[in-house]
Amino acid sequence: GGVRLEDYQPAPYTIDRVDLNIRLAPKATRVSARLAIRRGDNTAPGTALVLDGDDLKLTGLLLDGSALTFQDYEASPNRLEIPAPPSEPFVLEISTELDPDANTKLMGLYRSQGTYCTQCEAQGFRRITYFLDRPDVLAVYSTRIEARKGEAPVLLGNGNLIETGDVAGTDRHFAIWHDPHPKPSYLFALVAGDLARVPGEFTTASGREVELGIYVEHGNEDQCGWAMDSLKRSMRWDEKAFGREYDLDVFNIVAVSDFNMGAMENKGLNIFNDKYILADPDTATDQDYANIEAVIAHEYFHNWTGNRITCRDWFQLCLKEGLTVFRDQEFSADERSRPVKRISDVRLLKSHQFPEDAGPLAHPVRPRFYQEINNFYTATVYEKGAEVVRMIKTLLGEQAFRAGMDLFFERHDGGATTVEAFLDCFRDASNEDLDQFALWYEQAGTPTITVKSDYDSKAKVFTLSFSQSVPPTPRQADKKPMTIPVRFALVGEDGSDLAYETVSGVEVKGDVLKLQAPEHKVTISGVNERPIPSLLRGFSAPVILESDISEEDYLHLAARDGDPFNRWQALQTVALSSLTAGMEAARDGAAIEVDGLLVHALGTVAEDESLDPAFRALALQLPAEADIAREIGSDVDPDAVAAARNHLRRTIAREKGASFARLYESLEIDGPYSPDAASAGVRALRNTLLEYLAHSGADGDAERVRDHFAKADNMTDRLAGLTQLVHARLEGAEDALAAYYERHSTHPLAIDKWLTVQATDGHPEALEKVRALTAHPAFSFANPNRLRALVGAFATGNQTQFNRADGAGFDFVADTVLALDEKNPQVAARLLSAFRSWRALEATRRKLAENALRRVAEKADLSRDVKDIAERSLQ
Ligand code: ARG
Ligand code: ZN
Repeated sequence: GGVRLEDYQPAPYTIDRVDLNIRLAPKATRVSARLAIRRGDNTAPGTALVLDGDDLKLTGLLLDGSALTFQDYEASPNRLEIPAPPSEPFVLEISTELDPDANTKLMGLYRSQGTYCTQCEAQGFRRITYFLDRPDVLAVYSTRIEARKGEAPVLLGNGNLIETGDVAGTDRHFAIWHDPHPKPSYLFALVAGDLARVPGEFTTASGREVELGIYVEHGNEDQCGWAMDSLKRSMRWDEKAFGREYDLDVFNIVAVSDFNMGAMENKGLNIFNDKYILADPDTATDQDYANIEAVIAHEYFHNWTGNRITCRDWFQLCLKEGLTVFRDQEFSADERSRPVKRISDVRLLKSHQFPEDAGPLAHPVRPRFYQEINNFYTATVYEKGAEVVRMIKTLLGEQAFRAGMDLFFERHDGGATTVEAFLDCFRDASNEDLDQFALWYEQAGTPTITVKSDYDSKAKVFTLSFSQSVPPTPRQADKKPMTIPVRFALVGEDGSDLAYETVSGVEVKGDVLKLQAPEHKVTISGVNERPIPSLLRGFSAPVILESDISEEDYLHLAARDGDPFNRWQALQTVALSSLTAGMEAARDGAAIEVDGLLVHALGTVAEDESLDPAFRALALQLPAEADIAREIGSDVDPDAVAAARNHLRRTIAREKGASFARLYESLEIDGPYSPDAASAGVRALRNTLLEYLAHSGADGDAERVRDHFAKADNMTDRLAGLTQLVHARLEGAEDALAAYYERHSTHPLAIDKWLTVQATDGHPEALEKVRALTAHPAFSFANPNRLRALVGAFATGNQTQFNRADGAGFDFVADTVLALDEKNPQVAARLLSAFRSWRALEATRRKLAENALRRVAEKADLSRDVKDIAERSLQ
């Protein structure tokens, strides 16, 4: 089984046109697909045509208008073969019958809260009709959608609306949509239901008037303003930053409440998980607002990177995803604070992608083999994929990068292409040799660079000795050295970047060192004082840096580095080393020592009014338990990690409590809630201080937390208050949970937060609570958001309780995966990947995690999705 990159062959037939007639009914939807098919140039006449299917029921088949006899075709739910098709172009008309109500996989055509919708990426179109369901088969689609008027007054498809009308003598109506842009089947979509439309309009740079629409359940119209605003800003930004205009007369977005992923970039008809559309101050946090902005931008940007230029095959997924994540990150950076955005993105990369890259599920940004493609929509493909694009920009510089992107759009518009072709554009636009760089797409595992520094004060020479290594990963034992761009400066006593004369021993471009060999001895001359090297500024490469820089020097960088990212990173580095030491002490039952210099440095950052409050908030947040575990790497005892972290937090809270309380009180924001980055930053700082106050042990502070919750006039503050009350186990926590539930019981997305707060409580009773909550009326096993908010949050956001020493956390998650697999394999597989770091645990937990994984792997009739994750995790 499985699919291999090297086995790629172009399809023997092409489909140029697809005319769909879809007559919707909840349990028996009839689909007729007229496919204009043509033999490929290199295909011998008489070659069999094999179409993909998945769980299909064939009800009719015509070839050029005539019925086929039994010997002319072979059909099963998963495949339709015409052994000897005509050698001249022909039309195949396929009729299938679907049951949208029974579709619990949420792939293909299904119903969410009564609304018909589709999800076709990666291979869902084959659950609608038989097709060459692969991204390199591009066709022009027309879609006629018919439904009962009462059930589905709104009928939406890809492209432009051509015609609407009633079906005479019935209670049904129809709409015909035409999409002039050839597209792969994974970008097909339809929506039909009783939805409200929030209108908008946008005029493109060249004057095209675009009608915008956001469709939501009735009653949610007033929660779409932010999404609409984000859409318009995204459309403008892509024109300015990349010269990309929108290319249809309509752009529609639909929010649905049952959705496997975040959102989907279907041509002209994006479909979203409603959590990335709906927002108002009472139910959405600042983080929700930021996520909505980013996901709206992401899906919109796919119109060029993904839709106009798509992937030749699914191994090239990063070609559209990594690139589009890079584009949405840049958009948010331009709309908000660039350093704060960069720090948040790197935090996400380190907390999600680094652990993936360090465990059994590690895979290259462009995998070469898969059993189930849905399991490759990963942090590696998305987030590391974005880092790879960012490094191209770093290596080439702004202008050559833009020239390469322009060339990419020019060369490949309308095509389905590869990573190689993408890199060729940058090579041709810059003359930069990217052969070694291309290893970033091929080699899994996070590289480590080790650096030793030396200053010769007489000769005024500073030396940096670099070495790099890439760890072995599944199916890749031996690694080659990579191209690693290290943006750097030498920081002087007063914090300024020191001048120097020459750099030798490595290729340099501006302030970027281009490491290419296993080792480089980099000599920098003309350095007039002992410098502190500020390395990997802006996180110029997704690597682990091990350096001989002392704690004192790191704290100097934390206080003075001209690069805000490295100021943040320096504090994290010091905190991590202090926390790993604390963890060892905790495990040995010794007293945990607290680093006074670190506590002092954090206090200083908190008070530094010259710094952006959002930055101060990030700087004050201690590395998460999962980050500490990743840093330790093996033989991890999550209880000891939590003990060390809690001890440090408590110490900071006790020592800085008074000044934090004063600062907290001074940060009151006047006026009504606004989600802008500046006010969000003030709230973030205030809420970060609140976390310390919740752990200071002072009665006055506990009262502050209760007040914070009670007086909150927006969700950001209310949720911060609730989280601290519950996680710090302060008096009033139960009342707050009840009050919150009461207030938000009719708003599922707000209830998700309530579930998550309880699921991420590090207390030993959390598991029992989570178990009980699975029976709560607000919880639904069939809804992916509810599942992720409760069980997903427990598995990935509760290190001590998921990794309980008695194995009960593992068993609970494994049981959930097994039960869910029968309904929704994709979400089940995603949940199972929470075990990705099991091998790094100490022996007892490791054995228990392995047992749970084996129990999953050994169950009969597993889906391919879950089987793949279970087997790779155990390899
Ligand atoms: N292309 C979508 C996005 O990046 C994600 C779709 C994921 N679908 C899946 N079946 N795994 O926004
Ligand atoms: Zn995407």
